[in-house]
Amino acid sequence: MRVTTVTLNNYRNWARLTLTPHARLNLVSGPNAQGKSNLLEALYALVTTRPYRAARDLEVIRFGEDFAHVHATLHSESREVSCEIAWQRAQAGGRHRKEIKVNRQPVQRLMDVFGLARMVLFTPRDLQLVQGAPEFRRQFLDIMLCQLHPAHLYALSQYQKVLAERNRWLRTLAASGGTSRAAAQDASMHEVWTEQLVRWGTDLSDRRRASLERLAPKLERVYAQLCGKTDHLGLRYLPGVAPEPGESTAEALARAYRNGARDERARGVTLFGPHRDDIAILLDGRAMKLYGSQGQTRSTAIALRLAEAEMLERDGGHAPVLLLDDCLSEIDERRQVALWEYLSMRGQVFLTTSGWDSSRALPFDGTVWHTKAGRIQSMVDACVA
Ligand SMILES: Nc1ncnc2c1ncn2[C@@H]1O[C@H](COP(=O)(O)OP(=O)(O)O)[C@@H](O)[C@H]1O
Ligand SMILES: [Mg+2]
Repeated sequence: MRVTTVTLNNYRNWARLTLTPHARLNLVSGPNAQGKSNLLEALYALVTTRPYRAARDLEVIRFGEDFAHVHATLHSESREVSCEIAWQRAQAGGRHRKEIKVNRQPVQRLMDVFGLARMVLFTPRDLQLVQGAPEFRRQFLDIMLCQLHPAHLYALSQYQKVLAERNRWLRTLAASGGTSRAAAQDASMHEVWTEQLVRWGTDLSDRRRASLERLAPKLERVYAQLCGKTDHLGLRYLPGVAPEPGESTAEALARAYRNGARDERARGVTLFGPHRDDIAILLDGRAMKLYGSQGQTRSTAIALRLAEAEMLERDGGHAPVLLLDDCLSEIDERRQVALWEYLSMRGQVFLTTSGWDSSRALPFDGTVWHTKAGRIQSMVDACVA
């Protein structure tokens, strides 16, 4: 897949941007706060329909304007797809709006969009994949799986819906010391919710486990390519409920809810299930989170994203677009060279950096885009070292 045109209107600091990206490397350079990350955020919004840096979608609308618009043409397997998203501030008493169009036709559901634009994004926030709470790692897996399997997105939304209902019931019950009449009346619903939770939870957990088994060897290879073969990087799935030997995922979940019923009622919350999953990231068998150096942590985060891209490629048959925000800072020269070498074998890349000397040759085919105060200019075309 590759992005053949990009147009931004009133997207953050970009009043208007029209870009015809290079099919291989697009090196977006320029000082801080010029809109480099904003450009990558806009492109990635085409994958999830949510700007990843915004707490509220409307933050992306340029200060003082009423709407923001992102349009890109994607070229994939000799087909062109036009994707756009528009955010509109509320007008006189109305509500704000978001409109998504594929080939100029409005689409309603996220499911109709996920998987169309295959892109993988690295940002400095991805250090959280290694160091942060389990939630970051679950989200990493889920976004990848949603791009691979629309069924995963559906299972995820079903699971979250049931979990919220079940938690509300447990909370009411716990607050009333187990005597709330309404909650008691809902007791039969509890059984239904638990059953549903087992059903969708099994779906999520099995897919996460299977994808991790395929991701792990890719990650190990990519990490070795970037950092040398001496370190072995491994992944292990840590399910919220681990099946006993011979037990299926569904049996394990059902057992946990059965045995933990009293605890759940006392605490007023669902204590078991894939919403408590985690992934262990291990360097030579030791937790990276505890023992990894700054450089190792950063390389691991980048390697996770590159391995994610390889996963999407295998299933989709074409390489996803790589969006790499500030991935060069804080990694040493040798690893930078290894990264360039890796990227030279991939598809289209957008890479931002504040430290590119415009006289320096590009490591492979591409364009240097110089950004300054919401303007962009191509500096060098197809200059190869
Ligand atoms: N909604 C918005 N309207 C206008 N400017 C914005 C908006 N949101 C962020 N910005 C500006 O964008 C700039 C940061 O852009 P960013 O892409 O993060 O820079 P960098 O080039 O360092 O990656 C800041 O100056 C910020 O004020
Ligand atoms: Mg930035």
